[in-house]
Amino acid sequence: MASRFLILYVSSLFLFFYLAVSSKETIFDVRNYGARGDGDRDNAVAFAKTWGEACHRSHGSATVYIPPGIFYLRQVTFMGPCKNSITFMIKGTLLAPKNPYVIKQDQWITFLYVDNLTVTGGGLLDGQGSHSWPLNDCQKNRKCHALAMNMGFSFVKYSKIDGLRSVNSKMGHFNFFMVEDFNVTGVTINAPKDSPNTDGIKIGRSKNMHIHNVTIGTGDDCIAILDGTTNLDISEVRCGPGHGISVGSLGGNKGEKDVKGLTKTLSSSINIIVRTDNVIVRETMLLMFRLKT
Ligand SMILES: *[C@@H]1O[C@H](CO)[C@@H](O)[C@H](O)[C@H]1NC(C)=O
Ligand SMILES: *[C@@H]1O[C@H](CO)[C@@H](O)[C@H](O)[C@H]1NC(C)=O
Ligand SMILES: *[C@@H]1O[C@H](CO)[C@@H](O)[C@H](O)[C@H]1NC(C)=O
Repeated sequence: MASRFLILYVSSLFLFFYLAVSSKETIFDVRNYGARGDGDRDNAVAFAKTWGEACHRSHGSATVYIPPGIFYLRQVTFMGPCKNSITFMIKGTLLAPKNPYVIKQDQWITFLYVDNLTVTGGGLLDGQGSHSWPLNDCQKNRKCHALAMNMGFSFVKYSKIDGLRSVNSKMGHFNFFMVEDFNVTGVTINAPKDSPNTDGIKIGRSKNMHIHNVTIGTGDDCIAILDGTTNLDISEVRCGPGHGISVGSLGGNKGEKDVKGLTKTLSSSINIIVRTDNVIVRETMLLMFRLKT
């Protein structure tokens, strides 16, 4: 009898430890939520479920883990606010649909209303843009159907991308809108030099961003700084091929805000390594001109 109680006691002790350990689990592997890295099955639901669990974990920070493999993804939005800081670790490849009209939003992968986010892992975003570039008529048609950018961050604060690769976006690669205190480091972006509108990094209405040690070669702007951007610090950016760093698209829309506080960009512009074209130099001067007026 006593031994039976002992067994019960010991096994419930194990159960207790097991629960205690598992509730400390901070890594949320997408495979445990149904994701498959077979390059074929859509992983959007599995990724969204994984994000939901990690984001709402109340006992400390969490990591969404995407292992090596090719994870096909139609489109997905990762929405905050989250309970704690969150890491999105991409080891494998995220593969976009070939057909651009399958994506029903401006960005293939979107992070929205998240603070203290780290996107890392050195993995790859493959936009499969070569299938949609021939459909892009935006040079001729002002009302052209905008195609999705690879990854976008909107209303995201105190966050960073550290170590990520992006290739062949349908339109731009990384889009930042209303972002604050955001660092981009160790990022490599590639698309052919004749691919249309494949901007590397687009920044609008954002402040306190640092862009450091990134390599960008695309068919359009390396970094496009749009209206309302303040305190942007760019250093060790290797651009080319592409159109360099532009303070672009100003003056085209009603109610747009000035680009301010780019003096930091100017003072660090000596750190910008221009590989192929010297458009950057001209545009830096344009930038000074804008600041003076
Ligand atoms: C983000 O980090 C800041 C500064 O450490 C902290 O005050 C804030 O509570 C954090 N928010 C989340 C959602 O983790
Ligand atoms: C971004 O980098 C700056 C300068 O290196 C640093 O002071 C700041 O804490 C960093 N912010 C984040 C969110 O990593
Ligand atoms: C710069 O980024 C590359 C990845 O693009 C990385 O391999 C390298 O270690 C980074 N350099 C520094 C000094 O962090």
